[in-house]
Amino acid sequence: MRRIIVTSALPYANGSIHLGHLVEYLQTDIWARSQKMAGNDCVYICADDSHGTPIMLKAKELGITPEELIKNTYDEHVKDFKDFQIEFDNFHTTHSDENREISERIYLALKDKGDIASKEIEQFYDDEAKMFLPDRFIKGECPKCGAKDQYGDSCEECGATYSSSEIKNPISTVTNTKPITKNTEHVFFKLSSYEKFLKKWMDDNDIQKEIKNKLSEWLSGGLVDWDITRDKPYFGFEIPGLKDKFFYVWLDAPIGYIASHKNYCDKNNQNYLDDWTEGSKTELYHFIGKDIAYFHGLFWPAMLEGAGFRKPDGVFCHGFLTIDGEKMSKSRGTFFNARTYLNHLQPDYLRYYFSSRLTNKIEDIDLNFDDFMARVNSDLVGKIINIGSRCAKFINKDFNDQLSDEIGNDGLLKSVSNKKNEIIDNYEARNYAANMRIISSLSDEVNKYLDEEKPWIKVKDESTKASVQTICSDGINAFRMIMGYLKPVLPEIAVKVENILNCESISWSNIDNCLKKHKINAFEPLITRINKESIEKMKDENMKEEAVAEDTDKITIDDFIKVDLRVAKVINAKELEDSRKLLELEVDLGDETRIIFAGIKKSYTPEQLIGKLVVVIANLKPRKMKFGVSNGMVLATQHDGDIIILQPEKDVAPGSKIS
Ligand code: MSP
Ligand code: ZN
Repeated sequence: MRRIIVTSALPYANGSIHLGHLVEYLQTDIWARSQKMAGNDCVYICADDSHGTPIMLKAKELGITPEELIKNTYDEHVKDFKDFQIEFDNFHTTHSDENREISERIYLALKDKGDIASKEIEQFYDDEAKMFLPDRFIKGECPKCGAKDQYGDSCEECGATYSSSEIKNPISTVTNTKPITKNTEHVFFKLSSYEKFLKKWMDDNDIQKEIKNKLSEWLSGGLVDWDITRDKPYFGFEIPGLKDKFFYVWLDAPIGYIASHKNYCDKNNQNYLDDWTEGSKTELYHFIGKDIAYFHGLFWPAMLEGAGFRKPDGVFCHGFLTIDGEKMSKSRGTFFNARTYLNHLQPDYLRYYFSSRLTNKIEDIDLNFDDFMARVNSDLVGKIINIGSRCAKFINKDFNDQLSDEIGNDGLLKSVSNKKNEIIDNYEARNYAANMRIISSLSDEVNKYLDEEKPWIKVKDESTKASVQTICSDGINAFRMIMGYLKPVLPEIAVKVENILNCESISWSNIDNCLKKHKINAFEPLITRINKESIEKMKDENMKEEAVAEDTDKITIDDFIKVDLRVAKVINAKELEDSRKLLELEVDLGDETRIIFAGIKKSYTPEQLIGKLVVVIANLKPRKMKFGVSNGMVLATQHDGDIIILQPEKDVAPGSKIS
């Protein structure tokens, strides 16, 4: 018996599970289920990836704590996975005691070994949000092609990658202000010491050719040391011995695999270290998407090696999901959450469809809705599942639920059972598409046999009626094996079949036993056809969801009306002794005068302002400041570092309302 730990990448805890994610979780789930059917001790481990800046900012935006956010997401994820019949042996979170303990342990081991170096670096800093900015929160012009509105690490227009310090006219997307640069002390993991080790690890283990090529390219380009530090404020684990410095989320995320497995072992009276220390006989495989190969092919094995842990035996990479040939896109309405799908369609359809498209290649896989409907309706429902109802009908009605005590067509049953090893090997090798093809063609053979034997005619004639029991028993036995082959893909339907056939749970070892002289139960419908309407309804719901999602950024006219914007005339202005930024303005609002402190000293002298018309928010709550109470706000914009106040284009009376 093999002992195997298998993982899927840990989904981020700031978003819902979507159909793209499901490619991976279904691929892994099917693999793990096939291992379990072989009787192997296979544990499927996952967790939410609960740390990092996006999670911190999202919680802030929602007005809840990060802990609340990740708890809500955890509950949602668990439910989505369960409803898609994805059966983790353990689903934990990276924000856990186990993960803190093991992350510290690995970090300290690397430090003891001399693999942690400290270095002062210069980073973008948002002076308004008071935080250092990860690359993803900086936008600006691409240093290579000049395209506007590009992220701080790469350009979507020309594909260039660069460091955020190279980007032109950077803007913090957190506050839409120009970031400053600031020095900060960070610790780095000396990845460069592991080049030789990584080369060998990659050659000795199960890594796809394309990924090997990519990793070799990165290796030959020279590895740079990895910054594993993030400054406060951050939602994560504080680095032991350093104040206000946190582990970068990608340090503790993969360690979350170990931590979730430890959590599983603790619950089952096992010692996780037996599986994770160097030399362990337990096999370890990671299923991941192609976007995170760098982390799993370089950082992760190097960290494990440095800290004396065992390394993965394989990293299995898959491509991305496209919808009708295009990248999933929120604005086009092709970004489907798992829940939106479940509101309209059965999970089995997608499990089957993805299986029919999944190979061990890294190519993207496409969900084309016409093809989806055709394959499910004609292959799965019309051809495969139909065998069961075609045959059980007669056994139930005409033979008192009793299967024949002999086999009629031994050749047919052999041809089905002969495929067993190929099927098992294909699951192991992640060639699910090949299995779906085999299953479909075996079903053709069985249906052809039934078509030729015509039990519906033979049953009507007393002289041939008896043979119908044998014909349909053959059909039932073939059906049982075929549904056994499909059991990793359609586990719930397979269990229903086991109940109908009144047989023991199908595994790879008992799958080719035939049922003879055996009583079955009444047949029940196992699945219905997909109707086009359900797909359309799902698309409609998705469009609505997207519309709502987009609108949360916008305000309604009612929100706008709440803001009392008015023209005011500056009647007096003066500098304040202790302030570098502020000027004190006295403004005329028609029926009253007010004092407003405005941060415009950088670009205006008091003399330039007196007599000018400005625009103010008149109903802002008074704000108490060091110099007095400010009663409103003067509107201004910025250009080339200058502050520019907004003015009405013609003279109007002070107090005029703006709408
Ligand atoms: N949190 C990291 C993984 C940490 S693992 C130690 C992460 N999370 S994710 O939520 O963005 O993605 C989780 C997995 O889903 C990744 O393997 C990713 O490649 C995969 N997919 C996300 N979108 C996908 C598609 N559109 N298509 C296929 N797989 C996709 O990355
Ligand atoms: Zn560019």
